[in-house]
Amino acid sequence: MRIRGFLLGLLIMISPWATAAQALPHIVILATGGTIAGSAADNTQTTGYQAGAIGVDALVKAVPAINQVAHIEAEQFSNIGSENMTSDRILALAKRVNELLNRADVDGVVITHGTDTLDETPYFLNLTVKSHKPIVFTAAMRPATAISADGSMNLLQAVTVAADPQSQNRGVMVVLNDRIGAARFITKTNTTTLDTFKAPEEGYLGSIVGGRVYFHNRIDKIHTTASVFDLRKIKALPPVVIIYGYQDDPEYMYDAAIAHHAKGIVYAGTGAGSMSVRSQAGIEKAIRAGIVVVRASRTGSGIVPPVANESGLVANSLNPAKARILLMTALTQTHDPKVIQEYFNRY
Ligand code: SIN
Repeated sequence: MRIRGFLLGLLIMISPWATAAQALPHIVILATGGTIAGSAADNTQTTGYQAGAIGVDALVKAVPAINQVAHIEAEQFSNIGSENMTSDRILALAKRVNELLNRADVDGVVITHGTDTLDETPYFLNLTVKSHKPIVFTAAMRPATAISADGSMNLLQAVTVAADPQSQNRGVMVVLNDRIGAARFITKTNTTTLDTFKAPEEGYLGSIVGGRVYFHNRIDKIHTTASVFDLRKIKALPPVVIIYGYQDDPEYMYDAAIAHHAKGIVYAGTGAGSMSVRSQAGIEKAIRAGIVVVRASRTGSGIVPPVANESGLVANSLNPAKARILLMTALTQTHDPKVIQEYFNRY
């Protein structure tokens, strides 16, 4: 019996997943839904399944090794596909994460989320949550019921990152497929493959190998504790729409945005944010109607440079979905185009 206890202790000590079994960090897992909680009728089915079907307790129970990395507290925030995330929900989520991280006994938060809008929610928390403690999103590309489902390992790795003291003050992170991405830069680049989350220009913050966390980059953009945005003052996010640029793009999309009282428009422009004559007319009309317009790019990477003598703002390297998150957040604070452009340059 004694020998068995000794061997078990030794195993925990040498296990790569066990940081310090004696004083494990306290990590809260907040589950919001997505494919990581997805269920299919057949274990070969990787499309057409139901996202957000499995509860947080079952997700945690599927990964017993997690209890060697951290003391886990699990909370079901929602159980939906991330395409159904709304401004109200991400605001409520950010407030909940803020509350949790204000607790002295909580060392970090892991949020499970759908991949489809995983470039949006983490970036909103990156702008608004006030804590240096680790905030780590994770997700999966295969439902929990599939052969070789990626969710359990992603959850274990996300908790491992959240529990690691090196993860403090790095902004909100997104962990999938052995990699740590920055919420500011990371985006989904492929509809179905496991290695879909990338930041084509900026790369990853680090990786997880053999249960250990390796950081190799630090984000230079303003985030979390240094951000001016204050959740206590945000009751709702103003409506901001995205209008896509393409050959023959019609001006009436801007008329619709004006008629529906949009407060902001992100133009997902061709190339480096170029505008057709119709888009240009629509954008000028929207600006005259008091709407703040930001030009982004539909290309997937790169900077949108400002154009001299033009009143529209530019999104820096934010993709249109992330630019919409920042514009909504910025509009809770100011309508001054110069200040908003500064946010786009620095956040
Ligand atoms: C979702 O975004 O909720 C569904 C897709 C996924 O999680 O991969």
